[in-house]
Amino acid sequence: MKIGSIELGNTPVCLAPMAGTSSVTYRGICVEQGASYGPTELVSARSLAYGSLERSFRYMQISPSTEKVTAIQLFGFEPSDFEEAVKIICNDDRLKDVDIIDINMGCPVAKVVKTGAGSALMNEPDTAFRIVESTVRTAEAYGKTVTVKTRIGFCEFSPASVEFARGLAASGASMVCVHGRTAKQMYGGVADWNAIRKMRDAVVSEGAKFFSNGDVKDEDSARRILDITEADGIMVGRAAMGDPWIFARIRATLDGKPAPSDPSVREKCDMLMRELKGTVSCIGETTGVKEMRSVMPHYLKGLRGATGVKVELCRATTVKEVEGILKGFCDTWI
Ligand SMILES: Cc1cc2nc3c(=O)[nH]c(=O)nc-3n(C[C@H](O)[C@H](O)[C@H](O)COP(=O)(O)O)c2cc1C
Repeated sequence: MKIGSIELGNTPVCLAPMAGTSSVTYRGICVEQGASYGPTELVSARSLAYGSLERSFRYMQISPSTEKVTAIQLFGFEPSDFEEAVKIICNDDRLKDVDIIDINMGCPVAKVVKTGAGSALMNEPDTAFRIVESTVRTAEAYGKTVTVKTRIGFCEFSPASVEFARGLAASGASMVCVHGRTAKQMYGGVADWNAIRKMRDAVVSEGAKFFSNGDVKDEDSARRILDITEADGIMVGRAAMGDPWIFARIRATLDGKPAPSDPSVREKCDMLMRELKGTVSCIGETTGVKEMRSVMPHYLKGLRGATGVKVELCRATTVKEVEGILKGFCDTWI
C-alpha cells in the first residue's frame, strides 16, 4: 500500500498523533513494535510562518532512522501560512527529510477552533480545500506527500461530511484519515464506524487512500474497524498510550501470525524508562519528567498494586526518582 510515493506495506497500522504522547522517542518505539508510522502532534502553521520555528521545534522533531516514515502535523486557518510553514520545514536541515505533511482538520479544542483551525475547517469547506491545494502545491515542489486528518462532522455526521471528505481528496490529499466522532463529542461517546465508511467511499472514489480511527482498543477492534470501514489503514490513539506492544499484537493478527507474548512487568518498566530517558535527552530532565507524568501511569494500567505507584510517578521530578519508584514496584512482583 502506498500513500503518494511512500510504501507502507499491507494495511498500515499507525500511531495516531496525540499532543503530549507522540514524542519522537515514543514514535520510534511504536515503529519498532510494528507501527507503520506516527505523525507528530499538531504544530501551528502560523507560528512557523511568523518565525517561531525554534519554539515549536521540540514538538516537530523527527528521526528518519528510527521512524522510517516521518510525518509532521500542522494546524492553521490560512492557506499562505501552510505554504510558508512547508517551505520552512523543507529548508531546515533537521526537518527537511520529512516524508509527509499532515493537516489537522479535526482538533476540537476551543483554543484551536476559535481561530478557525482544526475541526472548525469542517464548517468552512472552501477554506479547507484551499489549504489542501496550497499545501500540496508547495509540498510537491519538495517531493513531500500531503495527508489530512479530520472527523465525521463538527456537530453531526451528515451528507456534508461526505462531501467534505471528497473535497479533501479532490484537492490533492494523498490520504484522508477520519476519526469517527464529531468535534462536539470531543473524545466521548462511541466512534461511528458506519459514518467513517461513508466518508471512505467518497475519498477512495477520488483516488486517495483512506485511514480510519477511533476506538481501536485491541486486535479484535482493529479487525472489525477494517471490516466495517474497508479502510486502507488505521490509526490507534489512546489504547497505544503506555502500550507500544499493541502494534505487534495487531500486526500479528492482521498478518495471520501467532500472537506475541505479553510483556512482563519488568519489560513494561524498562520500556517506560526507555521512553523517559529518550524524552529527557530531547527536551531536558525538568521538562521531560514533567511531560512524562501523564504518560508513565499508562504503562502500569491494570497491574496489581500499581495505584499508589502511579500517584508517586505523577509527582516525580527526576529520572533517578522514577527509577527508584519502578525498582520498588518491580521488586514486589518477583
Ligand atoms: C491527549 C490527546 C491528544 C491528541 N492530540 C492530537 C493531535 O495533536 N492531533 C490530532 O490530529 N489528533 C489528536 N488527538 C486525537 C487522536 O489522534 C485520535 O484521533 C483520537 O484519540 C481517537 O482515537 P482513539 O479512539 O484511538 O484514541 C489527540 C487525542 C488525545 C486523547
